[in-house]
Amino acid sequence: MTRIVYVNGRYVPHHEAAVHIEDRGYQFADGVYEVIAVRRGRLVDENGHLDRLNHSLSELRIGWPLSRRALKFILREVIRRNRLNGDGMVYLQVTRGVAPRSHAFPDHHESALVVTARRLRFLQGDGVDVITIPDIRWKRCDIKSISLLPNVLGKQQAKDSGASEAWMVDSGGQVTEGTLSNAWIVTERGELITRDVSRAILNGITRQAVLRLATGAEIAFSERPFTVNEAKAAREAFITGTTVLVTPVVRIDGEPVGNGRTGKFTAKLLAFYARHMDNQGKET
Ligand code: PDD
Repeated sequence: MTRIVYVNGRYVPHHEAAVHIEDRGYQFADGVYEVIAVRRGRLVDENGHLDRLNHSLSELRIGWPLSRRALKFILREVIRRNRLNGDGMVYLQVTRGVAPRSHAFPDHHESALVVTARRLRFLQGDGVDVITIPDIRWKRCDIKSISLLPNVLGKQQAKDSGASEAWMVDSGGQVTEGTLSNAWIVTERGELITRDVSRAILNGITRQAVLRLATGAEIAFSERPFTVNEAKAAREAFITGTTVLVTPVVRIDGEPVGNGRTGKFTAKLLAFYARHMDNQGKET
C-alpha cells in the first residue's frame, strides 16, 4: 500500500512529496513539530499536543497554517488514508514557509504544514541503558523546535556506546532530560522525581499524563532537578515520551540502577499509562 502524506494542502504519495528548497525549515530550522501516538487508530492526548504546538508557534511568532479544527481533520484524514488502524504515530511539522534566504522574518509568511503517519510497535517493559552527556542545547528547550542537532548527536553517542538514550546534564550537574524523552527517578526512600517545568526542558505530554496518573493513584512525587549521582543511587529510573511510553532505565553510564531490573513503580506507571492510551482516544 502506498503511504500518503499531507503537504501544504495536498494529499500525495510519500515518494512524490516535496517541499521548496527555500522553505525556512530547510534553511534555518525555522519551524516546530509534534509527534502524536496512535493507539488502535486513535490519537493519544491530541489536545495536549495541539496546545503545546500553539505554545511553540506563538513563542516563535509563526502563524497557524490553518485552524485547529482543520488540523484535527487532516490528522484523522492522514490516519484514514494510510489505513493506520493499529498502533503508530503521526508526525506534524509547521515552518515559517518559503521566502528568499534572509535571517529576519519575511514581512508576510504562509506557514508550511507537513503531516505524515506510520505504523510503530510500542516496545514495553524491557529496560534500557542510558549514558549521561553535557546539555549543549539553547535556552528555549520548552519550544519543540525542529532544530535538533544536539539531540541527534546525543542519541548517536548513546547508540555508539551501546545505550538507548542519553540524559543531558546542565552546568550545575543536574539532569535536564533525554534526547527524545523526559527523565525520572525513584529515590531509595520511594520518592518519584522528575525535573520541574522551565525553559530547560520540553514539557512532555507523556510526562504530564504520568503525573496526572500518579496523582490519581495517590503516588507522591516532586518536580525538581536531580543530579547524576542521585540518579545512580536511585532505586528505579525511567524515561517517558510519545515513542517510548514509560520505559525502565536499568543502567546509567554502565552502572546498574537498583537491582538492574524494571522497578515496581515503573511497572505500575507503565500499566497505568497503557490503560490511559487505550481509554482516552475514545474522547475524540
Ligand atoms: N520527542 N524531551 C524531548 C527533548 C523530546 O524530544 C521529547 C519528545 C520529549 C517527550 O515529550 P512527549 O512526551 O510529549 O513525546 C521530551 C519526540 C517524540 C521526538 O522528537 O520524536
